[in-house]
Amino acid sequence: MPRFLAGLLAAGGLVWSTGAWAVEISISCSSLGKEYEICKQGVDAWAKKTGNTVKIVSTPNSATERLALYQQLLAAGASDVDVFQIDVVWTGLLGSHLQDLTAKVQGAIDDHLPTMVETSRVGGKLMAMPWFADAGLLYYRQDLLDKYKRPVPQTWSDLTETARLVQEGERKEGRGDFWGFVWQGRAYEGLTTNAVEWVSSYNGGAIVDEKGEITIDNPKAAEALKAAAGWVGTITPEGVLNYTEEESRGVFQAGNALFMRNWPYAWALAQGADSTIKDKVGIAPLPKGGQDGRHAGTLGGQLLAVSKYSKNTDTAADLVMYLTGPEEQKRRGIQGSFNPTIVSLYGDNDIARANPFIGDLVDVFTNAVARPATVTGDNYNKVSTEFFNTVHQVLSKRAEPAQALSRLDRDLKRIKRSGW
Ligand code: GLC
Repeated sequence: MPRFLAGLLAAGGLVWSTGAWAVEISISCSSLGKEYEICKQGVDAWAKKTGNTVKIVSTPNSATERLALYQQLLAAGASDVDVFQIDVVWTGLLGSHLQDLTAKVQGAIDDHLPTMVETSRVGGKLMAMPWFADAGLLYYRQDLLDKYKRPVPQTWSDLTETARLVQEGERKEGRGDFWGFVWQGRAYEGLTTNAVEWVSSYNGGAIVDEKGEITIDNPKAAEALKAAAGWVGTITPEGVLNYTEEESRGVFQAGNALFMRNWPYAWALAQGADSTIKDKVGIAPLPKGGQDGRHAGTLGGQLLAVSKYSKNTDTAADLVMYLTGPEEQKRRGIQGSFNPTIVSLYGDNDIARANPFIGDLVDVFTNAVARPATVTGDNYNKVSTEFFNTVHQVLSKRAEPAQALSRLDRDLKRIKRSGW
């Protein structure tokens, strides 16, 4: 190509590289823990391979704030971000702004976990590719359970009792900032995921059932919320009411808590070379709500989607296919304990060695509780917001569980009348 022409095109953002026009793609990656760094390594590898360049747009840690940012960008039809990391519960909400990937993906989607594929579709169209799967887990300090001769708790009341005992013991030894149990209590999507686990573990359902019926106003749900409110200020610091994932991990990883509820990503960090709790941690299913209850972990996870407003949809889709492909999912599983969504990787020895809990807790992942995102469609964020605000009021002792849930039921019915 004549040099003057290459110069002109470069000034316009296009560069001739490895036999094709190279472009700059921007991707929004979350930056929880090591997420940014691990995302960067992946996109850099793709950039090197294809000759394109990639800009990473970092986003807020709170899922709810991240969604608000995306909605703002997409509503304005902005082409600033080509590839969005989206939550499994956002596909319905954002679908109208995303590119249908069905034709681009060909057979690759069949390799992924069916539950994750379901979260990627809207009305039969594939609006995103599964990237990693999450489920809520109980992290515990094995060394402290050994010291106090306590088993891993099976029910929430076991957990409460053990947390109290160990907290008292550690404080007597001068560790005034030691707590029994940390989790995510800020009024945001993360609290919805925690509270769905409590309610579902007491057999109180998951807010709205698969047929779209609102089920949250029931005595089991009230019992679950009452138990959780009882933790705040006793075995859990009041500050939890403003914690997202990273604040709870901060307390746990500093060695200042016995139990933590979190997603798989916290494992790789707890086991990191600089971690004070390295080799002292175990992972178990979250406790049951009493003997008749069940172990429940909320299904979470992230997908990659291409914006409809992207100026380079084909190249953006190529990046999505690379990042969600087997090589990257394996690397991310080993380095960051991100659970793969490609089924065959569950038989991979390197991933299993790095994350023994994945094999041990197959049930938690296969029976994870879904939030009612598909059934409520683009009303999901309203439903979840009403739910987490109600739960937050109960936790901060501004409302009684039963009354708060009947008010919530009324508010959800109002939303439902506008259609889901
Ligand atoms: C994690 C999960 C996501 C969930 C969010 C809540 O990012 O992958 O599904 O909504 O946490 O904070």
